[in-house]
Parts: sequence; structure tokens; C-alpha cells
Amino acid sequence: MTGDLARGRLKIEWARTHMPVLEGIRRRFESERPLRGLTVSAVLHVEAKTCALALALKAAGADVRLAAGNPLSTDDDAVAAVREEGVPTWAEKGESVAQYNAVTRALLDADPDVIVDDGADLVALVHTSRGKRGKIRGSTEETTTGVTRLRALEKSGKLLFPAINVNDAEMKHLFDNRYGTGQSTIDGVLTATNLLIAGKVCVVAGYGWCGKGVAARLRGLGGDVIVTEIDPVRAIEARLDGFRVMPMLDAAREADLIVTVTGNTGIVRAEHFRVLKDGCLLANSGHFDVEVSKTDLEGMAVSHRTARPQVEEYRFADGRRAYLLGEGRLINLAAGQGHPVEIMDLSFALQALSAEHLAKHGREMEVRVHSVPTVLDREVARAALSPLGIRLDEPTKEQVKYAAAWEGGTT
Ligand SMILES: NC(=O)c1ccc[n+]([C@@H]2O[C@H](COP(=O)([O-])OP(=O)(O)OC[C@H]3O[C@@H](n4cnc5c(N)ncnc54)[C@H](O)[C@@H]3O)[C@@H](O)[C@H]2O)c1
Repeated sequence: MTGDLARGRLKIEWARTHMPVLEGIRRRFESERPLRGLTVSAVLHVEAKTCALALALKAAGADVRLAAGNPLSTDDDAVAAVREEGVPTWAEKGESVAQYNAVTRALLDADPDVIVDDGADLVALVHTSRGKRGKIRGSTEETTTGVTRLRALEKSGKLLFPAINVNDAEMKHLFDNRYGTGQSTIDGVLTATNLLIAGKVCVVAGYGWCGKGVAARLRGLGGDVIVTEIDPVRAIEARLDGFRVMPMLDAAREADLIVTVTGNTGIVRAEHFRVLKDGCLLANSGHFDVEVSKTDLEGMAVSHRTARPQVEEYRFADGRRAYLLGEGRLINLAAGQGHPVEIMDLSFALQALSAEHLAKHGREMEVRVHSVPTVLDREVARAALSPLGIRLDEPTKEQVKYAAAWEGGTT
């Protein structure tokens, strides 16, 4: 679908107005041009906030190429506007998997110096199709699932270039995964269904950074929240946070809504579909559409129809219905508007600084998965405090000395 240019411009303007940290970086980039002459290929969810990042990288002097990281997460209006700003962009809401693979390939064909990835599909393509580093200085990775794939690649000894793990920076996962996914997942569920959360039994699979946010927000709306986990520490954490914890097979019998956020596969599958209550809503906010088994749903259902946009109704032989939201893809982007703007300000500020770091140091960096340098994480934190009008205490000289010494003890 062709987007509306004027609407797209307004959406990007709105995003930029509420992204003070990234805008500050963009202004510095404009004068210092740290990415001058470099090509940046970015596979991300292409919507207004992402366009603000693309424009910041362009201001740094980069030739930026942008492509959709997910078939359902594109905002066609934003695509029209960012193209107009001179960023070649391959993205269309509802694109097929074949189109998705073709555009990812187009980004590789642009012969990038720096890769900005979300889910590691572009990095994986370099390794499967090209098998050599070329002039790639390195890549940055946005999400937990992408980092898991990068670590597996590193462990196999096949990683070709340094990769910066943006996800694990404090200013990313503490806010994006928890508060961003928490709010926007609910936004997606509500937009798709127009139903009430209060009084519903809501099952959250996975009590990681995203799961904590989703569970807290569902409870805030009056949901009766159950958590499922495979990690004993996270399970205890969920219990002490006040949630019931049980295996999915038990939870599925009670659930009115199930949200998966594990980054794993086959979390809700045939054995769970057999015991679901009639009318259960199934949503996923993990990176890939493998958490709710569509194969099992399609195999077990006797009929299937679209009940509302982004709501597929599957009817089983005994008459029970299950509703899959957003095709089992990231519901916050498929049906909602993605993370709140202020959250993406932090994540994309880290992306911009990490891309600059790779431009400057990528060729000398060891080929492995790197953390975002602490100094950059802190820079983003400090820049984020200032628009909020929050000031910090400065430690006294005595406190600095005390915190660095081993001698002080019981007095
Ligand atoms: N929707 C979004 O916009 C968005 C934003 C950030 C991250 N993500 C994605 O969400 C997923 C989760 O990210 P995270 O940062 O919370 O990861 P995390 O590693 O902090 O948490 C995942 C949790 O799932 C649990 N888990 C794994 N398998 C399970 C199973 N079979 N049953 C129950 N629990 C299981 C793990 O023990 C862990 O506690 C990833 O795919 C990530 O890429 C999505």
C-alpha cells in the first residue's frame, strides 16, 4: 500500500519532538559527520520512530538503507516520508515472507559498512549467503532474540565481524523491554479486540524483561495474571511479585488471554489448544511468530475466518473457538503502534552511538559480541534525565574515598 506523505511527515515530526536524546545526538552528528562516506544497512520495524533514527544516521553523513524487520510492523505513511528525505527504504505493511527475504538481500547488496539489525536476520544472511566480512565494520543488535542468535554464531566460531549487543545495555532492556513492551503489547491487544482486561484471566508466558512489563500492566488494568516459566529464579520472582505461577497446561484451562514473550518456540501448542476455554485470545510479543504454534492451530481447527482486522478465529471440532491476534507476530507492532516514542528515544540513541562507535573502532575491535560501552549507556541516561528536569546528587569526596576502600567496616 502507498503511504500518505503528509501524514508520514507529521508522524515523524511528532516522534522527533518527543525524542530529545536522539535529536541531541543528531545535532552533534550534523556538525561532526562521524559516518561520512559509510553505508549503513538497517533492518528494523519501519515506523516513525525508526525513521527518526535513520535521519540521525543520515545527518552523520551515512548513506542509509532501511528495510522492514517484520512483515506486519511497517507504517506506510512513515515509509513515504522517509523516502522523500532521501533514505532508500524497502518496506510495505503486509509484505510476504518472499518480499521480506528479497529486501533483506537488497540491503546486503548495498555493501554496508555498518549493519543495524533487529533479530539478526541480516547478519545471518551475510553468514549464509556471502560467508565473508567484506568491508563490514560491525553490526548492532536491537533485541534479545537477535542477541541469542549472535551468541550462537559466536560460539560456533563462525562470527565474521564484531557485533554490539544493544539489547543488554541498561538503558535498553530496563526500559524498552519492560515498560515499552509492557505498554505497547496491551495497546496491540486492545486495538485488535476492543475487549476489557479487567476480570480476565491473563496468562503471561515468560517472566523476563518483557514478561515483567506485560504482567504488571495487565494487573494494572484489573487482569488476574498467571505467569508460566521454565527458569526457577524467574518463577520465584513472579510469585513474590504477587502472580500465580503454574505450567502452561494448567494455565491454558483458565486463560481468557495468553501472551507469549519468551523468545522461544512452541510455547502454546496442540496439547494446550485441546484444553483452552472457548474464546481464548492468543497474542505473542516475542520476536518471531513461533511462540504460538500456527501449524498446530491450523491442523486442529475445522474452520477458520477473520473475525476482525488482526483477529483470526479458529474453531475446533467441539465448537470451542480460539482467536489468534496479529497472525502470532509481535502484537504491539502488528496491531498497536509499537513502543512509546520516549522509550524508542533511549533505544535508538544507543543504536546511533553504537553505530558511531563501530564506524570509529569497528575495524580494530575483536570479532565477538560486545556490550555497549558503559560510557555510552551512561551518556544516554544523563541525556534522558535532563528533559525530565531530574537532577542527581554528587558524591562527596569522603563518599568517593569510602566507596573505593576496603578498610571501613563495623564501627
Ligand atoms: N514486542 C517487542 O517489541 C519486543 C521488545 C523487546 C524484546 N522482544 C522480544 O521478546 C522476547 C523476550 O525478550 P526478553 O528480553 O523478555 O527475554 P528474557 O530472556 O529476559 O526473558 C525470556 C523469559 O522467557 C522464559 N522462557 C523461555 N522458554 C520458556 C517456556 N517454554 N515457557 C515459559 N517461559 C519460558 C525464560 O526463562 C526467560 O525468563 C524476545 O524474543 C525478544 O526479542 C520483543
